[in-house]
Amino acid sequence: MNNLPIDKFGAIETPFYYYDVDVLKRTLECALQEAAKHEGFHIHYAIKANFNHKLLQIINAAGMGADCVSGGEVKAALAAGIPAEKIVFAGVGKTEKEIRLSLEAGIFCFNVESLPEAELINELAAEYGKRADIAIRVNPGVGAHTHANITTGLAENKFGINYELLGETIDAIEGMKNIALVGLHFHIGSQILEMDDFAVLCNRINEIQELLHSERGLVLPHLNVGGGLGIDYNNPDGNPIPDFGSYFGTYAANLKKYPGQQVHFELGRSIVGQCGSLITRVTYVKEGTCKKFVIVDAGMNDLVRPALYQAYHEIDNLTSNSNAESYDIVGPICESSDVFAKERMLPATKRGDILAIRSAGAYGEAMAFGYNCRELAKAYLSTDLVEQ
Ligand code: LLP
Repeated sequence: MNNLPIDKFGAIETPFYYYDVDVLKRTLECALQEAAKHEGFHIHYAIKANFNHKLLQIINAAGMGADCVSGGEVKAALAAGIPAEKIVFAGVGKTEKEIRLSLEAGIFCFNVESLPEAELINELAAEYGKRADIAIRVNPGVGAHTHANITTGLAENKFGINYELLGETIDAIEGMKNIALVGLHFHIGSQILEMDDFAVLCNRINEIQELLHSERGLVLPHLNVGGGLGIDYNNPDGNPIPDFGSYFGTYAANLKKYPGQQVHFELGRSIVGQCGSLITRVTYVKEGTCKKFVIVDAGMNDLVRPALYQAYHEIDNLTSNSNAESYDIVGPICESSDVFAKERMLPATKRGDILAIRSAGAYGEAMAFGYNCRELAKAYLSTDLVEQ
């Protein structure tokens, strides 16, 4: 059973995002405790999952760094108080403006995804009279058991530098005076629940490290293994906190660290996914010829995951608990893909009922857009509602 405060929801204009601070804090505590069991493990929260300022403040207070993929995210991290020296910046298309901003702020590391990008960072760092630390993002050629749209570690994906080209890339970078190669960066995909996928990544990293060591005598101080730990979308109440123990344990058991090497993780979904729900009101219940539609006031613009990745989200009717019926739960947007769930059993639902679309804390608010001139939905933390 969920513990959403329905008594507080009635007065709030729907749709809105609701974040349970208690769940977030317990998740942060568990992630940090499990990481701390292993020497040299550091977590950078992947801001792309949710850049809500208040959530970032809580995440900063817990002590996590940040993983950013745009100048906007670097600014959001700094604005929430995350120290520049805990910020990493990845992304295939960093612009000159974004690189300047990050150089000025003095971030910890650029995860470089191509040679032309390394050249530009080198050139700009020279202008500032700085030496920028970089990690090369290596495309490890490792698949993952997840949706094709969120798989990133294959040669066909645009991310990183294919590991066959790593040697020549390092040669070129070693000739650049204003950047220092301090690490390697990897990320194989998102919503990964099979720990073996991470073990395969570890084995590939081990091979690459052995090669760099034997051929060049090169051991870099930092390894960034990306994020990707999945959450239980089927059972947000039973499993609110992901299995960080197995996740970090898999890396500790399989990754061959050289003495003193630091390991960085970029976790997004697993940190914020389960603390969020999209709260929406039923506008109409419509009888079709072969099915019933529940039309809600949230749309794919508020949570695009079902439309974009055929993602499953639990949906609770917070105001009704009478006998279950089968419904298609759809938004108001003029797109056939504006569907949250098909043939989903819900208690008998009527106009005015309030529904919670669960596990919407990651890639919900952060991916919202204004299609059909829709206003962006507001967000409330559980602590905001207590204060009201
Ligand atoms: N690091 C890098 C380089 C990434 O590309 C990502 C996610 C992360 C870390 C964080 O991954 P996480 O721990 O959240 O799995 N919008 C999609 C997910 C896109 C993930 C993009 N990259 C979704 O809603 O499923």
